Order: sequence, then structure tokens, then C-alpha cells
Amino acid sequence: MIDFSLTDEQKQLQQLARDFARKEIMPVAEEYDRREEMPWDVIKKAHEVGLLNVAVPEHAGGLGLGMVDECIIGEELAYGCMGMFTIMMASELGITPILVGGTEEQQKRFLSPLVEKPALAAFALSEPNNGSDAAGMHTTAVLDGDEWVINGTKMWISNGGEAEVTVVFATTERGAGHKATVALVVPKDAPGFSYNKIKHKMGQRASLTSELVFENVRVPRENQLGGLGDGFKIAMKTLDKTRIPVAAGSVGVARRALDESVKYSKEREAFGKPISSFQALQFKMADMAMGIETGRLMYLKAAWLVDQGLPHGYESAIAKAYCSDMAFDAANEAIQIHGGYGYVGEYPVEKLLRDVKLNQIYEGTNEIQRVVISRSLLKD
Ligand code: CAA
Repeated sequence: MIDFSLTDEQKQLQQLARDFARKEIMPVAEEYDRREEMPWDVIKKAHEVGLLNVAVPEHAGGLGLGMVDECIIGEELAYGCMGMFTIMMASELGITPILVGGTEEQQKRFLSPLVEKPALAAFALSEPNNGSDAAGMHTTAVLDGDEWVINGTKMWISNGGEAEVTVVFATTERGAGHKATVALVVPKDAPGFSYNKIKHKMGQRASLTSELVFENVRVPRENQLGGLGDGFKIAMKTLDKTRIPVAAGSVGVARRALDESVKYSKEREAFGKPISSFQALQFKMADMAMGIETGRLMYLKAAWLVDQGLPHGYESAIAKAYCSDMAFDAANEAIQIHGGYGYVGEYPVEKLLRDVKLNQIYEGTNEIQRVVISRSLLKD
């Protein structure tokens, strides 16, 4: 059976997120982008209304929402501001390895604080010298009695340093590849753990991106997720899931680009009539609509597979790459429709392009998504 309708509960969640985007995000998005500042007041309100850390399971005090729910919310929040959505999405990214590799006791211990107060999680995999080759990490973890001692530097970490808990991937033997990796949960206040904010990003400037520095950071062995050598696989299983909200957010950005284009093209006149009457512009908007509708179907299919417990890595990679490329094109065309006004900050479309560029890069570049897709096609 195929059914494209949302449940009443999903419609309510969608409306809640849509209202939140309109009332709490859109009025302040431009300002936080300009100030390059984390919008803690918005995060606090998101926590109050139940839109933060929605994947925390019920046994840890959370809502335990599924991936379809998370994506429906994500499309709406990203419509308001992709940077602000990234903060919330990156927190779910930090939560996911604890769901994938953690015991019920660990989930309660690490995730309960994320529902009790407005707090975030983070996921630390990339390093200054390796992003796509995730298994080639240099950050080390050495066992000393019952404690892991972590040394190294992580790079491009969303929510990095401000997150209550950070899942850090490290190697127990440099050069030994994925079989020597381990996933460790590091609390915000661990001695030796510090961060540097990365400034002057092109877009998504409300979202904090950091370099994390670990100098003899000690965590108890109970903070290890899964077994020795499981780190890389936990990271891959996580990303197979969390690339889908990137797709949903991208659809939100594309929808905003289309709405802004429709509005502007009806207001702006040229040659004595609204520019919306010209087919050259109508076709651009029709192409945007085709991309949005197609992208939404793809992210919903991938999310549905996750919720059914079915394999989803291939579909998640297609959704992430397709939707972020599609949204980048939509934002680009929205600027074209706005002409010179689109190129300056007076209209929100230039921010859409700056923001959504990152969706083609983070959580695995779109080239890596094509590696995942083609490996799946070519495997025996
Ligand atoms: N699920 C489970 N296991 C997996 C897997 C998956 N999706 N992918 C690979 N594996 C397993 C393989 O089966 C293999 O296991 P065995 O040796 O036991 O058979 C092992 O992992 C190694 O697999 P590969 O040889 O395929 O690994 P690779 O080194 O060639 O890497 C890759 C594959 C797809 C390129 C991977 O490195 C990758 O996804 N790179 C991109 C990393 C990435 O997405 N980084 C984003 C960071 S998050 C972020 O952006 C931060 C933010 O704040 C938003």
C-alpha cells in the first residue's frame, strides 16, 4: 500500500514547526546571520515548545520521534533559517550515535539532560587533515586503567564546544584504519577539552562551527559506545540516517526560494507588466517546484525506510545529494529572478544561497554521496 498522507499528529508537528519558523526564526534570522552569533534565545524557545532533540527516546525522557517526523519538522525550520536548523539538526546528529551504539543505560545517562534543559549534542568526526577519508583519523584514544585518554584536534564541528555532550571518534592505533576506531562521549566540562569558534563562514552564520582541541582529556570507559573497533561503523550508520534531515532542510530552503520568487515576480514590473508574466521566469519557478516535489518524495522515502528498520544508506545518499544540489540551484535562480536586488542583502535570497552551499558539503560531500550510491550499484 502507498499512502502519501500525513497523520494528524504529523500535521500538528508540521504546523507547530511552521509557526515557530514564522514567529521565532524568520524575524531574527538576518540579525543572527550578520552578528555570527548562536541564537540561544531561539534554542530555548524551541526546547520549550518541544522542537529540540526530538529523537531522544521515551526511556530517556524524550519524545522518541521517528525520522519522518524529524524531517517534516526540519523542512519547516529550514524554511525560516538553514543556519538555525543546522544547530538543531547537528544536535540530533550528536544524539544518533548514542542511539546506534549506546546501551539503554548510556542513552538515559547522556540523553536525559538534553530534554531536561535547552542543551545540545555534537558529533566530532572530521579533522583538520581528513574529512572525506573519515577512517584515517589522527585523534588518539589510549586506555589508562579504566579511563580513555584522548588527544588530537577535530574540525568543522557544529555546536562544537557549546554542546553538553560530544561524541568523539578516535583511533587506538594510528594508520590501522577503521578497525582501530572507537566512539567516546565527552562531556562539555571535561578538563583538557577546549574549542575555537570558526569565524567568517560564507553562510549558516547563526550556527556555531568549531575546532575542538583535546589535550589529555579523560573519560571513563563507561563513556565508550559499542565495542573496540566499532567507532567508524557507528559513525557511518549514524550518517546514513542523519543525511536525510539535510535533504529535508534543503527542500525547506528551496521552498523559501520559490515563495520569495513568486512574490517578487508578481510585484516587480518590466516592459509594463509584472515579470511573472514572462515565460523565462515562469519556467525557472516551474523547475524549482519540480525539484521541491521530487526532493520531498525522496527524503520521505529514505526517512520511511529508517522508521521501518529497513536498509536506507543508498536512499539517504540520493536524498542528501539530490536535495542539496536542487536547493542550491533554486536559490541561485531566485537571485536571478530578483536581479540586482537579489545580489544584495535587502531580500533574503542571497542568504539562502550562502546557507545552502554548506548542505552540499557537510555530512559527507555530495561527491562522497555519489561514492556511496555507486558502490551500492556496483557491489556483488
Ligand atoms: N554502515 C555500516 N557499515 C559500513 C558503512 C555503513 N554505511 N559504510 C562502510 N561500512 C563498513 C564496511 O562494511 C567496512 O567494514 P568491514 O571492513 O568489516 O567489511 C568498513 O566500514 C570500512 O568501509 P569502507 O572500506 O567502505 O570505508 P572507506 O574508508 O572506503 O570509507 C566512505 C567510506 C563512504 C568514503 C566514508 O569514509 C564516508 O562516508 N566519508 C565521509 C565522512 C562524512 O560524511 N563526514 C561528515 C562529518 S559530519 C559533519 O559534517 C559535521 C557537522 O557538524 C554537520
